[in-house]
This record gives sequence, C-alpha cells and structure tokens, in this order.
Amino acid sequence: MAQIFDRSSNALARMSLVLTGILVIALGVTLNELQRSPWVTRQGQRADQPVPFSHKHHVQGLGLQCQYCHTSVEKSSYAGIPPTKTCMNCHAQIWTNAALLEPVRHSWATGESIRWIKVHDLPDFVYFNHSVHVNKGIGCASCHGRVDLMPLMYEQNTLQMEWCLNCHRNPGKNLRPTSEIYNMAWKAPTEDHPVWCSVTDAKTGVPTAESVSCVTKDPTDSGPAMASLDMPATPGAKDAAPGAMVMPASLSYTKFTSQKALGDFLIDQYHIRPPRQLASCETCHR
Ligand code: HEC
Ligand code: HEC
Ligand code: HEC
Ligand code: HEC
Ligand code: HEC
Repeated sequence: MAQIFDRSSNALARMSLVLTGILVIALGVTLNELQRSPWVTRQGQRADQPVPFSHKHHVQGLGLQCQYCHTSVEKSSYAGIPPTKTCMNCHAQIWTNAALLEPVRHSWATGESIRWIKVHDLPDFVYFNHSVHVNKGIGCASCHGRVDLMPLMYEQNTLQMEWCLNCHRNPGKNLRPTSEIYNMAWKAPTEDHPVWCSVTDAKTGVPTAESVSCVTKDPTDSGPAMASLDMPATPGAKDAAPGAMVMPASLSYTKFTSQKALGDFLIDQYHIRPPRQLASCETCHR
C-alpha cells in the first residue's frame, strides 16, 4: 500500500477531510441563515394586495380605531379582516370613482370578498390567540409595530419561535395597562413620564385585569384625568382648593417610574403564569 499511496496523498486525504468539514459547516450556517432570512420569514415585505390599503391614511389620518375594522381581536383568537361593507360605510360616498377602489366596488356589487393576501401566517401546528394577549396587556404595537405609520402593511417581526419565546420568558418587559393596548405611541414609564395605577375593585378582594386602572397624569393633581370620576366631596376636602378633586380612600394610586416595576405589578394583577410554564412546549404546540 505504501508504494501506491505515498506521503503526499495522505496529506491530500487529510486536507479533503478538513475541506469537507468546512463545507458541511458552511452549508449548515447558510441554511440556518436562510431559514431566518426575510426571504423565508417575509419580514418587512409588502404584499401585492388587490387594493393598496393604507393604515397610515385610515388610522393616523382619519383617526379610525383598530377595532373599527378588526372587530374580534379582544373576543376571539382571530383579529379578523373587515368585510367589504366596512369599507363601503365611507366609500359609498368618498372616492366613489377612484380606480384604486374598483376591486372594493366589484366585491360590493357581486358579494365576492376581496382576496387580501395574508401578511402574517403562522404554521397550523402553532396555537395562537389574540384575545389572550390583548386582555393581558400586550399592545398591538408590541407585535405588529407602528401600524399607524405604515402606508402598506408589512410584518414587523419574524413570528418565529424564538421571537415568541423571547417575550414568554420575560413578559414583564412588554406589559402595559389593558386600556392602552391600541395606543400605538405608548411608551414604557420613566422617571420623567411616570404611570400611576390603582386597583379599583378592592371590595371583592380579587384583583382582575379589568380592575386595574392607570393614568399618565398625576392623579393627586386635580385635573382633566380625574374629571370623569364624579365623586361627591368628602369631609377631608376642607383644606383643598374649591372644586378640587379629593381622592376617595379606596382609590390609592401607586406611581411607577420604570417598566420593570410596572411589569412586576401587572404580572401580579393579570395573574401571568411563570416563564417556565409560558415557555413550555405544550403552551404553543398542542
Ligand atoms: C379601515 C379599516 C382598518 C383599520 C381602522 C385598521 N385596519 Fe388593519 N387591516 C385592514 C385591512 C383591509 C387589512 C388587510 C390588507 C392589508 O394587509 O393591508 C388589514 C390588515 C392588518 C394586519 C395584517 C393582517 C395580515 O394579513 O396578517 C394587521 C397586523 C393590522 N391590520 C393591524 C391593525 C392595527 C394594529 C390597527 C390599528 C392601529 C388597524 N389594523 C386598523 C383594515 C383596517
Ligand atoms: C371612516 C371612513 C373610511 C373607511 C371605513 C374606509 N375608508 Fe378608505 N378612505 C377614506 C378617506 C376619507 C380617504 C381619502 C384619504 C385621503 O386621501 O386623505 C380614503 C382613501 C382610501 C384609498 C385611497 C388611497 C389612500 O389611502 O389614500 C383606498 C385604496 C381606500 N381608502 C381603501 C379602503 C378600504 C379597502 C377600506 C375597507 C377596509 C376603507 N378604505 C375604509 C375613508 C374611509
Ligand atoms: C402577541 C403578539 C400579538 C399581538 C399583541 C397582536 N397580534 Fe395580531 N397577529 C399576531 C400573530 C402571531 C398573527 C398571525 C396569526 C396566524 O397566522 O394565525 C397575527 C395576525 C393578525 C391579523 C391578521 C388576521 C388574523 O386574525 O389572524 C390582524 C388583522 C391582526 N393580527 C391585528 C392585530 C390587532 C388589531 C392587535 C391589537 C389589538 C393585534 N393584532 C395584537 C400577533 C399579535
Ligand atoms: C410581547 C410578548 C408576547 C409575544 C411576542 C408572544 N406572547 Fe404569547 N403570551 C404573552 C402573554 C403575556 C401571555 C399571557 C400569559 C398568561 O396569562 O399567563 C401569553 C400567552 C400565550 C398563550 C397561552 C394562551 C392560552 O390560551 O392559555 C399562547 C398559546 C401563546 N401566548 C402563544 C404565542 C405564540 C405562538 C407567539 C408567537 C407567534 C406568542 N405567544 C408571542 C406574551 C407574548
Ligand atoms: C411561545 C410559543 C412556543 C413555544 C412555547 C414553543 N414553540 Fe415551537 N414553535 C413556535 C412557533 C411560532 C413555530 C413556527 C416557527 C416558524 O414558522 O418559523 C414553532 C416551530 C416549532 C418546530 C418546527 C421547526 C421549526 O423550528 O420551525 C418545532 C420542532 C418546535 N417548534 C418545537 C418546540 C419544542 C420542542 C418546544 C418546547 C421546548 C417548543 N417548540 C415551544 C412557538 C412555540
């Protein structure tokens, strides 16, 4: 053997082994990158929709609320895409001849729904539910980004398992009062912009998500934030300025100056499960 395979071919064999190794690793890395690339996850891409519907125009421009069109987002697993009727509420009168809206008029005339292309689409083997998330204080913007600034819809996040787990392992960093879930511009509390929260339904002794109420203006200042409470004046009101609001004893607000503190408080109030449970396979794969 030694005559046929001399020293140099031995080196060659070793070299080709190393090369194969490098190739295999490179292929693995490439496939892994590919699987996470926007080309596969469709992150950031604008779909070629039948109608170039602009969230920016309708939400930021006209001031429409998300739930005007996505009616089931708080009640069911699906947010839902609005039927043509919703568009016709306005477009029977506005822009009635615009060519852009021809598919809307065609759909209205024939009863055939508009074929919107899905921008977000999880595989069927993953369980996801909108109502659970929004009723536990995760805002639309935490998952979908600044929809109110999008002329055309795109996917802000990958929706890959890693992304879901990232939040499930530490949900506190994304929690906000449920009254703010539609607020696209919501910012986590800071020293300069604190948030005050109270548990309003103290009489039952059982805090629920609904009983948490938060304000972004100091509730101990008499101001518009409290005007709607319409509380009768109490004896302690003597030293307050005339017309000033007096805090009823049961409404005590706690001030939060960081997302960490607000998150911890809401985890408690909303009974958020521990990360170990939220990140367990059965939560999303059933
Ligand atoms: C006037 C109706 C209307 C309003 C108001 C509206 N949307 Fe939409 N939304 C639509 C329509 C129509 C589509 C489907 C076309 C598209 O993807 O752009 C859509 C699509 C979406 C999608 C992507 C759906 C998919 O295919 O994956 C998201 C996410 C979304 N909307 C979030 C929001 C949020 C958040 C708000 C509030 C800030 C909002 N929408 C307000 C009509 C509306
Ligand atoms: C509350 C009224 C209202 C509803 C509901 C509404 N639109 Fe509009 N839409 C308008 C107005 C007003 C404009 C003109 C906006 C502008 O140019 O400032 C407009 C403009 C448009 C345009 C032209 C491009 C643009 O964004 O300026 C398209 C396309 C459109 N709407 C599609 C839809 C579709 C599809 C629906 C249903 C999912 C819908 N609209 C629901 C009021 C409405
Ligand atoms: C925890 C993350 C998360 C939050 C919070 C969230 N979404 Fe979604 N949304 C998703 C995912 C994931 C999908 C894709 C679902 C699928 O493919 O089954 C989706 C899909 C959608 C769709 C497409 C239609 C549908 O029902 O699947 C719309 C519209 C939508 N979201 C609107 C909203 C609105 C409006 C809010 C706020 C009230 C919101 N979402 C809050 C993650 C979220
Ligand atoms: C920004 C934070 C966040 C993201 C992102 C997120 N979740 Fe959640 N998820 C939560 C919170 C908070 C809860 C509520 C936990 C509780 O009540 O104990 C929850 C609960 C759930 C539940 C339990 C629902 C039930 O019926 O018990 C499922 C399933 C789930 N999420 C799936 C997903 C999937 C799939 C994704 C990714 C596509 C995702 N989540 C992304 C925060 C998030
Ligand atoms: C918070 C929700 C969530 C939890 C918890 C979760 N997964 Fe997933 N998983 C997903 C989503 C979303 C996808 C789809 C990812 C995609 O489309 O790229 C997925 C995809 C998968 C896949 C398909 C292969 C792939 O990577 O695309 C496997 C296998 C899987 N998960 C296994 C597990 C195992 C094992 C666990 C427990 C250790 C687990 N998952 C926990 C959300 C979750």
